[in-house]
Amino acid sequence: LNFQNARFVTSAPDIRHLSADEGMEVAFAGRSNAGKSSALNVLTRQKSLARTSKTPGRTQQINVFALDEKRRLIDLPGYGFAKVPLEMKLKWQQALSEYLQARKCLRGLVVLMDIRHPLKDLDQELIHWAVASDLPVLVVLTKADKLKSGVRKATLMKVQEAIPGFGGDVSVITFSSLNKSGLADMEHVLFQWFEA
Ligand code: GTP
Ligand code: MG
Repeated sequence: LNFQNARFVTSAPDIRHLSADEGMEVAFAGRSNAGKSSALNVLTRQKSLARTSKTPGRTQQINVFALDEKRRLIDLPGYGFAKVPLEMKLKWQQALSEYLQARKCLRGLVVLMDIRHPLKDLDQELIHWAVASDLPVLVVLTKADKLKSGVRKATLMKVQEAIPGFGGDVSVITFSSLNKSGLADMEHVLFQWFEA
């Protein structure tokens, strides 16, 4: 398993258009602008594998990246973007919860949050859905470089304290796409999910 081997496979407009439910998938989810696509690029050592943007809502399709014949990384569109019409938001939430429940090849869910705004309502809901589907969750507090070390540690501790409330297999790391802190921790968890 080598994350550098990641290559783009396809963009799907919705979950029903994903390829056959075979092999293993790990999905990256989180609010718009949380840093999902940036984290995928750091993980795969490819500058522009996943498209990143200063404009929230950049990733509107489900992007699929293959690591090998069996393993895939999934970049999901962000949620919670204010400018998206309510009807579209509800539709996406519905699709996301269905995906978490139905997708048998899903090995784990990475939930990314800007460390300055952790555990918003939709983040918590997503973690609850994943736990209800027996999926392990890795909470990634992104943009850790934006905070001084003291505040960063305090935020990590606060989030860690909230984790037992979800039940299930949920762990937390801090991460920065700028200085790559937390990358080894992320790889460690994904290795476990993909090897199991
Ligand atoms: P959507 O596709 O819209 O849901 O966004 P996304 O979650 O994929 O976020 P993306 O990776 O496109 O990053 C959003 C913005 O945050 C970009 O301007 C990135 O450069 C910036 N960003 C992402 N990660 C980090 C980080 O670790 N540190 C800093 N300082 N900025 C980051
Ligand atoms: Mg994106």
